Amino acid sequence: MTALVYNRCTVTLDFLGSLQRTHTCGELRASDAGKSVVILGWVNRRRDHGNLIFLDLRDRYGISQVVLDKDLGVEAHAKAEQARSEYVIAAVGKVRLRDASVINPKMETGEIEIVADELRILNDAKVPPFSPAEDAIANEEVRLKYRYLDLRRPEMQHNFLVRHKVALAVRQYLSGQGFYEIETPFMTRSTPEGARDYLVPSRVHPGNFYALPQSPQLFKQILMVSGMDRYFQIARCFRDEDLRADRQPEFTQIDLEMTFPQQETIFRVVEGFLSEAFKAVGIHLPTPFPQITYDEAMRNYGIDKPDLRLPGLTDVKAAFTEENLAALQIDPNLPVVALRIPKVGELSRKERDDNKPLFDSRKGAKYIDDLKRLEKGFPEAAAKVRELAGGETDDLLVIVAGDAAVHIHASDTKSEGRLSEREIAIYSTAGNFRVELAKKYADRHGIFAVTDAVVNSPERETGLADGSQAFRPIWVTDFPMFEFDEETKKWMPSHHPFTSPHEEDMDRLVSDPASVRARYYDVAMNGLELGSGSIRIHRQDVQAEIFRSIGMTDEEAKARFGFFLEALQYGTPPHGGIALGLDRIVMILAGASSLREVIAFPKTAKAIDLMVDAPTPVSEQQLRELHIRPTKQ
Ligand code: AMO
Repeated sequence: MTALVYNRCTVTLDFLGSLQRTHTCGELRASDAGKSVVILGWVNRRRDHGNLIFLDLRDRYGISQVVLDKDLGVEAHAKAEQARSEYVIAAVGKVRLRDASVINPKMETGEIEIVADELRILNDAKVPPFSPAEDAIANEEVRLKYRYLDLRRPEMQHNFLVRHKVALAVRQYLSGQGFYEIETPFMTRSTPEGARDYLVPSRVHPGNFYALPQSPQLFKQILMVSGMDRYFQIARCFRDEDLRADRQPEFTQIDLEMTFPQQETIFRVVEGFLSEAFKAVGIHLPTPFPQITYDEAMRNYGIDKPDLRLPGLTDVKAAFTEENLAALQIDPNLPVVALRIPKVGELSRKERDDNKPLFDSRKGAKYIDDLKRLEKGFPEAAAKVRELAGGETDDLLVIVAGDAAVHIHASDTKSEGRLSEREIAIYSTAGNFRVELAKKYADRHGIFAVTDAVVNSPERETGLADGSQAFRPIWVTDFPMFEFDEETKKWMPSHHPFTSPHEEDMDRLVSDPASVRARYYDVAMNGLELGSGSIRIHRQDVQAEIFRSIGMTDEEAKARFGFFLEALQYGTPPHGGIALGLDRIVMILAGASSLREVIAFPKTAKAIDLMVDAPTPVSEQQLRELHIRPTKQ
């Protein structure tokens, strides 16, 4: 072959010419022995034994070993001498069975090697700041700056395979259920989902801005007004909010809306596509999911996204007499609950002290974690607590209660049949402590490891991994319609203002807002909120009333949502929907601890894209065209 060559750096690069890949780097097996093949990929590792050089070529599909024997071809061997990590190589040769002594059972292609008689170096590579071939993971900032190298790592390639399979399974399922995939605009006006908007200035309309959508909420509702019946979209959303491991400024929702649904209709659809998505990556997820109300979730877990893998909270007030409570300075009007973390074993005084910072005492709660001391002063109460909370003697048992010595000024929003703000404060303090302690002692109780085991289980290959204990979804229903915002002293919608109140609670919207339940539901899994949705308001008069009840004047409502209030007047059918975080689903399925592991080009916690270095200043010319005058720094 007379390769066209040109000189660059220190290596002579070859052209691909008419070479065609016959196999990927992950494909060849013992049964292919004797075949002539062309494989292409990146140099994962190179081992030089003088006359013999081994190149491990890597692509998305796997790794194959290529052997260059000087005795069989001087030219190809000389090329291999020049090859370095991450060079792009084409190898032409024959598949050969490896000697039994050098079979590598850890590699899928470990029984064979390719004896190359021709090698082309298609491109060189600078010495990478970290090697995609190494198991040790580089510092995250470096990974994000050189994301293209990071994405070459097999773990990352696997995460994107999972992401692809999940999105595909969801699309197929929803399409099969009669949903249309419809795109809604990116350049739109603000939709309230509780975060700040990213704004896009308009050049042709000086002083006016588009907002990037926080979600397609109003458009999907309008699609129901339009008679589309069933809509879905794998929709990009943008929110300027404080970032955490499970929040990105741009993220993807599986967003859907249906006409004439009952809440249960929507639950069945979500259960259907989630179990299909899990099936697509080899895991069986039983359906239907359990359901509890928001109040039950708070009482039983102290959180509205309970992790069912852990034991719940137990009401242990009955273990104490009135005198006990007074002596322990426990507020008798507030809940007394026990939380239990299995198999923690006895804790030293220092270990117990180290747990203190995990407890949030700001909401007037306190805790007792030394049952032995309780046993000394109040043996009967301690015995009763143990009996009520159950579990084994090596479990960590902590009692959380209202601190009678602390006076918390909270709006007493207690209304008939609902939890009061202060009750919620005790439950949620206990619930958060439970989650923190469970994380801290994960190695001892091993409960989370059950999930890791399924994530990494070989049964996934055959689609038989049992996810029933590892992935614990739950529906949480009947959230309160409003939350009291201490800052603005206003009742604000706990979801968004398009959520319908329960029909039977409608007459208390103004007289007793705290008692109004919303037709709002969440789906959570393993302590992570996966999705939120609601049955919507479909009547214009009710929608206008809800805007008023949250302190919006009719003029304000018209200015912000006039188009929507208008649309509602043209025969809007009852409708409802939900949106699930695609990134979060993939994060769980990939066993990842951050969304950044499952988003190809994510932003840092400071909302920076380190690879392209965004955001950046723009030229004065651009600003002028957009009618924006920079303020002096
Ligand atoms: P909500 O605001 O609860 O509801 O969002 C729905 C789901 O989207 C995911 N999510 C996020 N994922 C990553 N980063 C973020 N910053 C982020 N914010 C939200 C979560 C969440 O459960 N329009 C309504 C849905 C509806 O009512 O139909 C909405 O957007 O998994």
